[in-house]
Amino acid sequence: MPADHPPYVIDQMISAKSIAARIESLAREIGTEFAGTDKLVVVGLLRGSFVFIADLVRELDLPVEVDFLEASSYGDGMESSREVRILKDLRGQIEGRDVLVVEDIVDTGHTLAHVTKFLQSRKPAKLRTIALLDKPARREVDFKADWIGFEIPDEFVVGYGIDYGQRNRNLPFIGKVRFTG
Ligand code: IMP
Ligand code: MG
Repeated sequence: MPADHPPYVIDQMISAKSIAARIESLAREIGTEFAGTDKLVVVGLLRGSFVFIADLVRELDLPVEVDFLEASSYGDGMESSREVRILKDLRGQIEGRDVLVVEDIVDTGHTLAHVTKFLQSRKPAKLRTIALLDKPARREVDFKADWIGFEIPDEFVVGYGIDYGQRNRNLPFIGKVRFTG
């Protein structure tokens, strides 16, 4: 555990099995929404969405391309910076294409509000968003993802791609951080 974080344990909140089941059902809905498309670009927000996007695209029965975008957010702490900057842009063009943005968590809403505005300015044919987790109690800007995996209470969570101080991304489940010190 990094020395600058107080001691903590991780309590499981959502099992790997529940996540897998939820993704299957989300993929069916997404398949319906984008039925017939031959130009879907699935855009993962780095780094937290990398596990989710990997599982999600493997459940999608559609021709997909995968691209990544990185926006600044938390740094290594637990507080959102609120001022969102694009750190790494897409490699491909999205004008006239269908785009699905994949995020790990909607918290204050600043990140996805900014990212969707940024991507809309490139005139995609259709832009939709999905987040694995949603913490509606924390919202500061009006933003609603088109699909949400799970609504969760105001807890700091890790696992399944999501970190605390860059650790715990490799846990196969979602757990909440509980400080013990
Ligand atoms: P927002 O801009 O406040 O909606 O923040 C979204 C980003 O904050 C997410 O992409 C996560 O990287 C990060 N984040 C929000 N809540 C948590 C959490 O509970 N654990 C780890 N990262 C989080
Ligand atoms: Mg993030």
